[in-house]
Amino acid sequence: MIRVAIDGPAGVGKSSTSKALAKYFGYAYLDTGAMYRACAWWCLKQGIDLDSEQVDERTVTETVGDFFTGDHFDISVNPDDPRVFADGEDISDAIRSSEVSSHVSKVSNVIPVRNVLIAAQRAYIAREAAPDSFSEGLGIVAEGRDITTVVAPDAEVRVLLTAREEVRQARRSGQAAAGVGAENVVARDKADSKVTSFMTAADGVTTIDNSDLDFEHTLDMLIGMVEDAI
Ligand code: C5P
Repeated sequence: MIRVAIDGPAGVGKSSTSKALAKYFGYAYLDTGAMYRACAWWCLKQGIDLDSEQVDERTVTETVGDFFTGDHFDISVNPDDPRVFADGEDISDAIRSSEVSSHVSKVSNVIPVRNVLIAAQRAYIAREAAPDSFSEGLGIVAEGRDITTVVAPDAEVRVLLTAREEVRQARRSGQAAAGVGAENVVARDKADSKVTSFMTAADGVTTIDNSDLDFEHTLDMLIGMVEDAI
């Protein structure tokens, strides 16, 4: 069982690269950012005020707790069709909206919320609580902000994917044209950096700066790292 942990800031291309890597090896794919986005979407749906400077952390924690323990949340780890559900409703597109992107850090900054999600992510990665049986026992690629450091620091392959700020902003703007919510990635990274460390690599984590690399080149480097670990 090979575990691949990939962290990095917004707009670096983590999701597309991680998904392609998982597909190449037939591994499962876990998008932890989608889990935080789903929580923010759920909180907004319950009418929780995420605009105030000081969010009501207790209410956010209780609401997210109910989202998970009440079995409202579901996620698919098949890289050919990774989807997120709330009460059976497919919210995979809704969680990419500008509204969710601009509020997600308010939810992910709440430490008890992180603890709930980290526990769920560890169980998914160990495939003890696999959301589906895709690729059980073979391998998993998990991406986010704290996978290499907190969620799976003992993963066989650990990578920090990064790129220059202007490159990441340009990539996200390009995605906005394709329907993903436009946003300021720098502001989100700053908010996220309060609770997670993903701008520099921790000990034993390999940095790949893909500012001047195309998609295939980045993917080839990752494939090589996984092959070395098998
Ligand atoms: O990866 P993505 O940009 O979709 O992540 C959305 C948000 O989820 C991040 O901006 C961050 O607030 C939160 N997140 C996190 N820890 C992770 C993954 C995502 O706090 N491991």
